[in-house]
Amino acid sequence: MKAPIDATMPAKFYNGAVDNAQPCADEWPVPSPHVTSVPMTNALSANPLGAAEPWDWVAESYVEIAMPFLAQFAEVAIEKAQLKPTQRVLDVATGPGTLVCRIAKSVAGGCALDFSEEMVAKCKSRLQNLDIKNVAVTQGDGQALPYADAAFEVGFSMFGLMFFPDRMQGFRELFRVLVPGGSAYVTSWAPIDQSPLMLARVAAQIAANPGTIPAHQNLMTIENPQLFEQEMQEAGFIDVKIEPIYREMEYCNLEELCAGLTRGSAPFELLKRKVGDKEWDRQLGVMCDQIASSYKSFPVRLGSTALLGSGRKPK
Ligand SMILES: C[S@@+](CC[C@H](N)C(=O)[O-])C[C@H]1O[C@@H](n2cnc3c(N)ncnc32)[C@H](O)[C@@H]1O
Repeated sequence: MKAPIDATMPAKFYNGAVDNAQPCADEWPVPSPHVTSVPMTNALSANPLGAAEPWDWVAESYVEIAMPFLAQFAEVAIEKAQLKPTQRVLDVATGPGTLVCRIAKSVAGGCALDFSEEMVAKCKSRLQNLDIKNVAVTQGDGQALPYADAAFEVGFSMFGLMFFPDRMQGFRELFRVLVPGGSAYVTSWAPIDQSPLMLARVAAQIAANPGTIPAHQNLMTIENPQLFEQEMQEAGFIDVKIEPIYREMEYCNLEELCAGLTRGSAPFELLKRKVGDKEWDRQLGVMCDQIASSYKSFPVRLGSTALLGSGRKPK
């Protein structure tokens, strides 16, 4: 399947169409975002979150539940980037435009790309609602960016590149499209033991399905800061820094907490499709009972740690 080309994209950014074919998500095991229940040989090549479908399915609830939390990490990356009004920016794996919608009015213009049709639709409608006209949104693969070399001063990929089956290619592409001296900002989740929010989600999941394999650190992903740094350097970036960032959400009551832990999650959406609506409803009930018995006084604050990788393309 060829990704549609956005007619509004400035010609100078465009560099050809992208082949976006993905295998069938039904055949894959259901992972945590840390991909720990997938055998190592599969983890790099067959992560179901490396396909567009789960992101299509979750786009609606992602905007409502996940985006407000992830926006806090986007804010940190934006602050570090110290954007200038003359700059052109790129947001790879933009989702509903979590980051690009925040920066568009303070830069000259930009491009946002995602391989999920539904996420692209969300991003476009959010930009339209905000009356932003200087961002071209394209459906495409972050491993084969449809942009010319040296088209952008700053590139971001917030919790996107971490899912690419060929992550190095994602880093190389980001590097290629930056001008000499341009900067990149990429985030990944840190290991789950640094994320009370994700631990709470996994505890609820284990209550509902005792066969769930508890997540553990996967050194072969960029939740490993040494590998994160090494991959950015191998792609050509200099002055590479990997910094942890911890951010929280506040949940005012049980209903909000249950929604925060069970909705807006692509891995859970995959699980739902795998087990069917009836079994999913049962699991949801058990998860919410487990959450109710674990958190009795509100508000509750739960957070996650991300790793923010930054680097510069040499002049
Ligand atoms: C966790 S969401 C992050 C979205 C957004 N950057 C944010 O911070 O809210 C991950 C996004 O990566 C996108 N994605 C994953 N792999 C991709 C790929 N190979 N090419 C383009 N987009 C991809 C998904 O469609 C999804 O929208």
